Amino acid sequence: MRYLLVIFFLIFTFYSPLFADESKYSSNDTLALSKSQKKGKLLFLHYCAHCHGNKGGGDGFNAEFLDKDPAELSSQKFQEKISNKKLFRVINEGGAKVKKSHLMPSFGSTLSEEEIWSLVAYVRYLGGWKIKVKVPKKLNTKRPNNTAISKADIDFFSRWFSAEGTESNLIKVGESLVINKKSCLGCHQLNDEGGRVGPNLNRSGFNYPPAWIYTWILNPQTFRPNTKMPHLHLSPKEARAITSFLISFEPDNEEEGSDLADSVELNKYLSIKGDSKRGETIFKDPEGIANCAKCHLVKTDGGSVGPVLSFIGTSRTREFLLESIIDPSRVITSGFNTIMILTKNRKFITGIKINEDESGLYIVDKNGKELHVPLDKIKKSKVQKISTMPGNFKDLLSTQDIADILAYLETLTFSLMAPSVN
Ligand code: HEC
Ligand code: HEC
Ligand code: HEC
Repeated sequence: MRYLLVIFFLIFTFYSPLFADESKYSSNDTLALSKSQKKGKLLFLHYCAHCHGNKGGGDGFNAEFLDKDPAELSSQKFQEKISNKKLFRVINEGGAKVKKSHLMPSFGSTLSEEEIWSLVAYVRYLGGWKIKVKVPKKLNTKRPNNTAISKADIDFFSRWFSAEGTESNLIKVGESLVINKKSCLGCHQLNDEGGRVGPNLNRSGFNYPPAWIYTWILNPQTFRPNTKMPHLHLSPKEARAITSFLISFEPDNEEEGSDLADSVELNKYLSIKGDSKRGETIFKDPEGIANCAKCHLVKTDGGSVGPVLSFIGTSRTREFLLESIIDPSRVITSGFNTIMILTKNRKFITGIKINEDESGLYIVDKNGKELHVPLDKIKKSKVQKISTMPGNFKDLLSTQDIADILAYLETLTFSLMAPSVN
């Protein structure tokens, strides 16, 4: 036995240069990640795992909603038939450019060349096969410098939209881009089709001002640098057509509770003038009934249970903001679903999932407390249809209070969009 061990040790030392070389392993259980693969792993978990699965098995939570199965990146068959160059190309340019499904997004306008090569290296790691990744020298390590959108662009857009934004041939162009050419339905639903990584776009016309859709889809990273939505390299012309289509879109099956009944309810608040100063006080008062700031960050102050509201007045319509206050469960902001966990020792934990890794889930509860729930302690978990935001503000606050809060939210605009105002 000892003899065997010595032989083993000798072999190990003899071959150790090979062990340092990632490409010679045939199983990734023992494989150490290289520096660039470590980087690739983080990027993969953030941008790819929802479709391709945490380990590249093609089984991300979003995969079942796609018309085309995401490639099983870890399979031997896949690894053998694709070259490193081709891997780079499909991640860089997206599926449509390489005669694959348009649902595979392009990442070349979001990530740096070096980051995409680190993804290539990590995809090879996932396969565990003996294919060496020869990373080219002198890679660009800077992310593409996508120009921010100016106030003048927005003004131009808004003028254009009121004149031509509802033309039917334009809407048709937008429809074909969203449904057949771009990767939108990889992450978003329209009617019952499409992925669930981002928000359902059925009610875009109600939720978003047209200028917001236009600016967001042209460069989401300007607004949320770490968003999972890639920069899709749309031309202004494409972005205009897509905006027209989304604003005019009407889903086949109206959801229950028709908009008409809602509008009577909403009008009660919309018809009175709000006082934004008073609204701000109600929003921020830690002793008050509303205490919105307990959960929401505005600029630099507030909690992080709910979404950041720093420029919510730019990105949402007045009607949608009101609906969010009086009926928060109607539309749950993507990434903020409530999840309920039943542990093996029969405890219930509810909160919002902020992260997930091999060790378990990271949850923040409605009081802002962060918890780590180890995977092996979880018996069952389920996404709830009810928001973590309290649903009874309509009963707790007066009509005037709500109109005031609404007026305050409308003052929260994105400063880049209005540098010349004030
Ligand atoms: C919205 C879902 C989605 C996301 C996000 C996504 N992919 Fe894909 N990917 C797909 C689909 C669908 C295919 C299948 C394309 C086909 O076979 O036509 C695919 C195919 C691929 C392929 C194989 C292409 C080929 O030539 O067979 C690679 C490699 C790939 N994806 C890598 C990635 C990486 C890396 C990321 C993250 C940076 C990523 N994907 C993000 C959906 C997605
Ligand atoms: C890889 C997934 C992915 C793809 C592809 C994608 N999106 Fe998104 N999208 C998201 C996510 C995630 C969000 C939520 C943004 C956030 O909070 O960071 C989002 C948000 C949005 C929003 C709402 C912005 C807001 O203020 O919350 C719109 C509108 C939108 N996407 C439209 C589109 C359109 C149009 C396309 C196709 C041209 C597209 N998306 C492609 C993931 C995606
Ligand atoms: C206990 C925490 C909590 C409190 C208190 C709270 N919210 Fe929220 N809020 C959330 C969460 C979580 C979400 C995301 C889920 C959802 O969409 O319902 C949210 C969503 C929202 C949205 C939609 C944001 C978007 O991206 O579309 C708005 C607007 C909003 N809240 C405003 C308020 C206002 C105004 C108050 C005070 C009257 C308030 N919230 C109080 C937790 C809270």
